[in-house]
Amino acid sequence: MAKSKKYGINTKALHTQKRIDLPTGDVMPPIHLSTTYENTVPGESEYFYGRVSNPTREIFERTISSLEGNENYEELPGLAMASGMAAVSLIGELIKPDENVVITKDVYGGTTNFFATIARKRGLEVHFCDMYDIEKLETLINKKTKLVWIESPSNPNMNIYDLKKISEIAHKEEALLVADSTFCTPFITRPFEHGVDIIMHSTTKYIGGHSDTLGGVVVTNNQEVYETLYEYQKTSGGIMAPFDAYLCQRGLYTLGPRIELHSKNAHQLSEYLANSEYIKEVKYPGLTESHNHDVAVKQMDYFGGMLSFFLEDSINESKFWEELDLYKLAVSLGGVETLIEVPYLMTHEKVTGLDGEIINNAPDGLIRISVGIENIEDLIEDMDSALNASRK
Ligand SMILES: Cc1ncc(COP(=O)(O)O)c(C=O)c1O
Repeated sequence: MAKSKKYGINTKALHTQKRIDLPTGDVMPPIHLSTTYENTVPGESEYFYGRVSNPTREIFERTISSLEGNENYEELPGLAMASGMAAVSLIGELIKPDENVVITKDVYGGTTNFFATIARKRGLEVHFCDMYDIEKLETLINKKTKLVWIESPSNPNMNIYDLKKISEIAHKEEALLVADSTFCTPFITRPFEHGVDIIMHSTTKYIGGHSDTLGGVVVTNNQEVYETLYEYQKTSGGIMAPFDAYLCQRGLYTLGPRIELHSKNAHQLSEYLANSEYIKEVKYPGLTESHNHDVAVKQMDYFGGMLSFFLEDSINESKFWEELDLYKLAVSLGGVETLIEVPYLMTHEKVTGLDGEIINNAPDGLIRISVGIENIEDLIEDMDSALNASRK
């Protein structure tokens, strides 16, 4: 794809793979399962061992890097890992004991846990920060800050953070800005355009897209960071398996249209919920009254498939779970099917920091929906009848 610059993102998703020669002329790349490769000259082959390089993984790593906007995706491919958390810990390897990391308070529960417990046990200084509080953020970032970590929209509060503004603050002190872009994917936001240095995704979510593969990927536009992370990826060994890489690559082909439909459905459902007498508050960046809606408009091409809300006290919650039919009560997100969950009970249990501070802020009662690609009329009708049947 030599003239990649002129292609749109959907075209890139399908055609970046052509850079890799496929001897049989397969239209779609095969899954390379071999763990070792026959070499002709000792020590001179590109492929010699599956943990270090694998063509299936490479196709996905190049394509995701191209979609995030790296023109030189061959030199700066993504780094595909066995899970989103493996991608988080890979990035965590960049921090040395005399450095610190500043992270938003409202990130995915596993990420909070990683930084509050594992990273701190390794002696790293970790500061959790409400990133709407720019003054506080500026006091926490200093010359020793290696990473500033953000999720926008945040999971599960759906807070929107201004990536550009935060990247300028981070860069003043030469810190690297990391964005967990799992909720967005490059079809919604391309964080490099807003000053982000390292992007990560749990590919388990929208990129895989069908709730049948676990994985994670890290993409950077910084050569030095890439080289450091590549060494850790191949040596620590938590790489993505070929079959998962194949599923993620396949997921990329339809990601654009899926994101469009997820977003359209979520927008309509959020409007229905916002007008319902049984709902206290809806959090969806596409609603004009939502906090930082103007920032969302600036940095998001669509508003995404995730939303959260609080039920009014007039609803019997256990009855509500029984009445829902199309909404599956399950953790995770980003699959074609609609999932509903209660973050403070299921994914974002409270973490106590070393100083006794309660870190995670998935509020009690918040309910999160990953809106699927079913017919929206059916989703709204199912929600409507469940709410009506659950009145106290
Ligand atoms: C925003 C976000 N980041 C990271 C992760 C971790 O990903 P995985 O479950 O693939 O390890 C999740 C999982 O739910 C997530 O929602």
